[in-house]
Amino acid sequence: MDEISKPPGIIITKMQSVHLDDLAQLERLTFSRPWSYDALAEELQNPLAVFFVAQSPKDKQAVGYIGMHHILDEGAIANIVVHPDYRRIGIAKALIAAAVDYAEQNRLSRLTLEVRVSNLPAVALYEGMGFKRDGIRPDFYDSPKEDAAIYSLYF
Ligand SMILES: CC(C)(COP(=O)(O)OP(=O)(O)OC[C@H]1O[C@@H](n2cnc3c(N)ncnc32)[C@H](O)[C@@H]1OP(=O)(O)O)[C@@H](O)C(=O)NCCC(=O)NCCS
Repeated sequence: MDEISKPPGIIITKMQSVHLDDLAQLERLTFSRPWSYDALAEELQNPLAVFFVAQSPKDKQAVGYIGMHHILDEGAIANIVVHPDYRRIGIAKALIAAAVDYAEQNRLSRLTLEVRVSNLPAVALYEGMGFKRDGIRPDFYDSPKEDAAIYSLYF
């Protein structure tokens, strides 16, 4: 999949170097332990990395992304984030749909991820997309310390 159009005019495309400034800024805006520009840039060279970006049609701003690693027959989703100004219009759903599309095309057996147990928007997103809770990883996160819930979508 090179590019697919999604409502509301947002384009989902593969991550490229032109997106890195916007995504590093989005990381800083969102997370207590953000991925840096350099960490994101390294993923462009990582053969296991499958990263999709949501791009706004007007100014080509990168307003969200999903980052996944294709390891054996699994896709491990490392991150998904959408800019606060663009939330609740289906962008995260479109990003996950792109990951599902990739998984189906590459015959993966599952997509898997961890999420803070208190992150109710993300939990609602994953459960709404059909992910099932596999278990809990106690004290998985720092800043602040918190359990992770493990979710998987099986194919
Ligand atoms: C979680 C996040 C990625 C959702 O992005 P989004 O583009 O707003 O999500 P969508 O518009 O595609 O919403 C899809 C579904 O997710 C759920 N959802 C999203 N935001 C929600 C919220 N604030 N409260 C409750 N449910 C929510 C809903 O079920 C929603 O479906 P609906 O709009 O039909 O009710 C976004 O809130 C975000 O970037 N959060 C900060 C980063 C983060 O926590 N990432 C997850 C790390 S594991």
